[in-house]
Amino acid sequence: MKELLPATARPSSGRTSRTSVSIAVALLCLIGLNHVFNANPLRLPLGRHSCHHDDLLPYGLFPKTDDPFHFLPCTRETVPPTLDDPDAAATWAARFNPDPLTWNRGGPTGEGIYLCGYLDVPLDYTNQTDPRIARLAVTKFQVSGPGGGKSERTLVVNPGGPGGSGTGLVWRATDDFSPRFTDYQYDVLGWDPRGVNTSLPRAACFPFNANRDRWSLLHGQYHEVAGPGHLELADALNEAIFQACYEQLGDLGRFLSTTFVARDVEEIRKALGEPELTGYFVSYGTGIGQTWANMFPDSVGRLILDGTEYVRDHRQVGGFGYTALDNATDAWHDGFLGECLHAGPAHCALAVPKVNASSPVQLHDLDARMHALLSSLIARPIPGYTPSTGPSIITYSALVSSIYSAMYNAASWPALAQMLSELEDGNATLATTFINSWEYDPRDPSSCPSPSSPSPLSPSTDELTDLVICADSADAPEWSSPGGPQHLSWWSSLWASMTTRSWISGNSRFYNVFSCRHFNTFWPQPAELYRGDLNNSLSNPILLIAETYDPATPLRNGRRLLHEMGHDNSRLIVHHGYGHSSRDRSVCTDAIAKGYLLKGEVPGEMETDCFADGKPYLYGVDEEWVIVDAEGEVELKRDPVEVWMEHVETMAVWGGRRVGV
Ligand SMILES: *[C@@H]1O[C@H](CO)[C@@H](O)[C@H](O)[C@H]1NC(C)=O
Ligand SMILES: *[C@@H]1O[C@H](CO)[C@@H](O)[C@H](O)[C@H]1NC(C)=O
Ligand SMILES: *[C@@H]1O[C@H](CO)[C@@H](O)[C@H](O)[C@H]1NC(C)=O
Ligand SMILES: *[C@@H]1O[C@H](CO)[C@@H](O)[C@H](O)[C@H]1NC(C)=O
Ligand SMILES: *[C@@H]1O[C@H](CO)[C@@H](O)[C@H](O)[C@H]1NC(C)=O
Ligand SMILES: *[C@@H]1O[C@H](CO)[C@@H](O)[C@H](O)[C@H]1NC(C)=O
Repeated sequence: MKELLPATARPSSGRTSRTSVSIAVALLCLIGLNHVFNANPLRLPLGRHSCHHDDLLPYGLFPKTDDPFHFLPCTRETVPPTLDDPDAAATWAARFNPDPLTWNRGGPTGEGIYLCGYLDVPLDYTNQTDPRIARLAVTKFQVSGPGGGKSERTLVVNPGGPGGSGTGLVWRATDDFSPRFTDYQYDVLGWDPRGVNTSLPRAACFPFNANRDRWSLLHGQYHEVAGPGHLELADALNEAIFQACYEQLGDLGRFLSTTFVARDVEEIRKALGEPELTGYFVSYGTGIGQTWANMFPDSVGRLILDGTEYVRDHRQVGGFGYTALDNATDAWHDGFLGECLHAGPAHCALAVPKVNASSPVQLHDLDARMHALLSSLIARPIPGYTPSTGPSIITYSALVSSIYSAMYNAASWPALAQMLSELEDGNATLATTFINSWEYDPRDPSSCPSPSSPSPLSPSTDELTDLVICADSADAPEWSSPGGPQHLSWWSSLWASMTTRSWISGNSRFYNVFSCRHFNTFWPQPAELYRGDLNNSLSNPILLIAETYDPATPLRNGRRLLHEMGHDNSRLIVHHGYGHSSRDRSVCTDAIAKGYLLKGEVPGEMETDCFADGKPYLYGVDEEWVIVDAEGEVELKRDPVEVWMEHVETMAVWGGRRVGV
């Protein structure tokens, strides 16, 4: 069965113990075999453990010759070699661990295997004389196992962000995409986009995650508490971050546009040797997908875009932010609160009557209570404490950010309801646990690199997000308009209008785009920005999925893309459900997606309505979430902290740490 922890997830948590005699023998034999391959076959080492090639290397050596991805079975060591390594191929080959027990397996019978590799691509596609490369980390789940070949098609996946790790996402393949979309018939491949996570160079601009954490209380404050004067401070912080990025990364910012990422997708397709790409791209990944499809229309095979952006919006200054705002407050009102009351007190803590136990909670009362609670935090934060956090405060900004993140994933709602209910009663323990989201965790040695154990994953590549968003709007006409985004007052108006449109998402979204004011100072001209239409004739239609209550990619965006692409090139599933992308599962959506990926079938109509199978708070629950006894005391049946941590992990896997996606 699959090991739960991806081998590369904790690269600095120490080498796996290598004490077994059989491994030592295998390594010895491997050295011998290398001699065999490289030089004189007669020098095969003979001795007590004579090397039976088939026993010790039942699947032969990795990487296979002519494999453009250089795949090795994933272990803790299989992160790509550094760019300054003069013999990267040799360094990489030495990371092959011949002991099959160290390999990560998965799939219905456990015979599938996770393979880790990398693909070198030009750093600058537009300049043939620039010798620099980007080294893209790639992870593939191969259903046929280490001895088998590739599947007929490979499902290439991208989680969005910008900044989400595709290699991280593939570790969910055996539980998620592979059965859900392909009945385990296709391999699943994900890559860390240029700048992200284990791809090189890495777009990290702080020396340590702890340094970045220090900024976060100053940065990203909500309009309601910060007031307009705060913008000067946040703007200065942004300028300092981009300046640090420039010092650290030089001209890298010119080569991170979505257009270049689309070119990387095409290189991945070619490396796979598949004439048509098969893929599942989510959220911001749908922007990559629609850009790629229109740049390489003859390469389009079966591509699903789920949680659909309309990438033209991102060509405008601030567009990545304001195009997201439509439905976050609907999700709160109809979904988080409304479905809570539908599910009732046995499933949602906020449905338990507080004032008069015999009269049920009304939606408008509950909404008003929640707003009163939040407003009280504007006036004064609530102090909190847990043994692991020490002293803490529950601020308006932190709490609303948590609420926004919860709108992405309705599985988190019972825990959020519990937290808000307790906070209302003056107990800030859960709130303290939920909102503390520092990147640096002093309990985790791998989160702090030291000279003796440098971690290749620290610091995290969070700055990539802003660099991509800003590159994509770097040539917008607004930049040169009088009173335009060169001026802080333009941003101040944007801030006010976005937070007015959505008290939940307006502020978070504003800070996704605000740093762009300083992008052109450091990287005046991104190397390439695709500015063509999105209605090119594709070799196959693509399948869009957009959700009615999506807090990040409103249905309106999917509809506008559908309208531009037209019937020959696209179909849309209107997925009626909660959360971001189609994670609020629907057998209807899944059946269409599977028919499309496996057989190339598309619905006849432009739009097909599909409805989520279950309701929030009631998903598959035979057990109840809470139990209320005769005195009105609430007892929990699931640990809300555990549920919330699952949610936080899901968010991290799907789109990077920062809410953006
Ligand atoms: C980086 O990639 C590895 C897998 O290659 C993954 O386990 C890890 O979670 C990723 N990190 C982030 C921050 O996504
Ligand atoms: C192309 O790359 C070469 C070599 O790095 C560099 O000297 C030149 O300035 C680059 N040209 C452009 C247009 O960026
Ligand atoms: C989403 O927002 C749009 C624009 O405000 C609105 O027309 C639509 O009804 C909203 N959808 C839902 C499900 O509330
Ligand atoms: C509680 O609600 C019941 C039913 O709505 C009502 O009859 C009763 O008067 C209420 N009690 C108080 C103290 O408000
Ligand atoms: C506060 O909430 C925490 C977490 O739910 C709980 O363990 C604790 O007992 C509560 N404290 C009080 C005084 O009710
Ligand atoms: C795409 O749409 C534009 C109008 O927006 C139209 O002028 C153009 O001909 C269309 N291109 C194709 C390939 O249909």
